[in-house]
Amino acid sequence: MATLTNSAPLYDTLLTGARLIDGTGTNAVRADLAIKGDRIAAIGELNHARAAEEINVKGLCVAPGFIDTHTHDDQACISDSHMEPKISQGVTTVVVGNCGVSLAPLDHPSSVPEPINLLGSPSDFMYKDFHSYFDAVDSSKPITNVVALIGHSSLRVAAMRDVGRLAQPGEINTMTQMIDEGMKSGASGLSSGVFYPIGSAADNNEIIPLVQKTAEYGGIYASHMRDEHAGVLDAMQEVFEAARFGGAPLLISHHKCAGRRNWGRSSETLDLLDSVRTSQDVSVDMYPYEAASSVLDPELVEEDTPVLITWSTPFPEASGRYLREIAQDWCCSDVEAARQLCPAGACYFFMSEDDIERIIQHPSTMIGSDGLPMDEHPHPRLWGTFPRVIRRYAIQRELFSIEEAVRKMTSLPANRFGIRSRGVLKQGSYADLVVFDPNTVADTATYQNPKQAASGICKVFVNGRLSWDGRLCVSSGSGHLLRRAEGIP
Ligand code: ZN
Ligand code: CU
Repeated sequence: MATLTNSAPLYDTLLTGARLIDGTGTNAVRADLAIKGDRIAAIGELNHARAAEEINVKGLCVAPGFIDTHTHDDQACISDSHMEPKISQGVTTVVVGNCGVSLAPLDHPSSVPEPINLLGSPSDFMYKDFHSYFDAVDSSKPITNVVALIGHSSLRVAAMRDVGRLAQPGEINTMTQMIDEGMKSGASGLSSGVFYPIGSAADNNEIIPLVQKTAEYGGIYASHMRDEHAGVLDAMQEVFEAARFGGAPLLISHHKCAGRRNWGRSSETLDLLDSVRTSQDVSVDMYPYEAASSVLDPELVEEDTPVLITWSTPFPEASGRYLREIAQDWCCSDVEAARQLCPAGACYFFMSEDDIERIIQHPSTMIGSDGLPMDEHPHPRLWGTFPRVIRRYAIQRELFSIEEAVRKMTSLPANRFGIRSRGVLKQGSYADLVVFDPNTVADTATYQNPKQAASGICKVFVNGRLSWDGRLCVSSGSGHLLRRAEGIP
């Protein structure tokens, strides 16, 4: 007589005894989880199930793979088959194309001006349209899934002869057509970086028609706002207006109150956010660190803000050194040293811990690393963001539960970006999973030593395949581009 065991379904992988955190924010439960192909096949008491591989995860948390809402992995997801900074944190999906910069639609531009150079060198730009970029992502089989935004500054460079002024109607029309192509090909939204040189000449007369086209396809509008310093409230009003008239959900990127004189003002920015949230679909993302990181801009160098150099073309040896030390060596002012180091990248220590704690607790706040994988000496957020949210803000500071931390990094972003069947653990969903040890999970990357894998991330599955075993990348990629337009009528 056949036993119950023999007739039970055969799964590929069975995780037994998990502390299951489903991504919705509800309390963890004890359960087993079975994977078949790229899907979660069953969750519950699976004592009698059989599987090709059985892994005892007693005492460990199993959660949906983390979604990094804010990345500049546009090139890494093509050329770095392991993306170790991300997979080692439990990230299974990255959102690329942020801050207004995307690799497409730029095909061998003569130069890549700041901040587009954050993404790579001129030879990395070889995609005349989004379709060709998305094909390149898919065929390179990245280790994580990829969600892509269309970068407004890249559109400007592609569509305008002079990016130092407002776009003219014909140029807006060209950009609208590029968005149409991008959204049809599978982009998930539009990003802008009106803080930066290329984007800053644009105002809402230019941006609203672009957001409208994005909204036709259900896309989101994400913005690195014009001002994160003294003018942060006005900058928020500007993006609220663009999203309201454009008809798209809004995401304020890496929300912060930058500069010592603005410390504490997150109570004002969040009050404003809450009042607008009653009538508009708005949210924010952030990285859990007191330093920002971007290109080095001598105008952002202030007396009271330490600056760490992350790369420099004329002085590569400056990577990892503080600007103040370099200026002392050179017997010049900090600003003068910064001018000489450019083109360069930097970390600016200009946020307060109080503001970080207030913003990260907000129910609409998601987590985006904003990591810069091309930097010589990167900001530690590239390797540490997600474990740090759990270790520092959930476990040590007790600002919220681990379940809530996981929600901010899974179901919330999946909903915001229209990512279907991911971000929540349930039968039939894709098996994007992270197994972590709540006792040891922590970021280990520091400003001094930034390229370090987190601890306590025991296993990571992407589309059902084991991709990180706690020490090493163990698969060639099984991630792909998650196309927004798929299935949209
Ligand atoms: Zn940005
Ligand atoms: Cu960014």
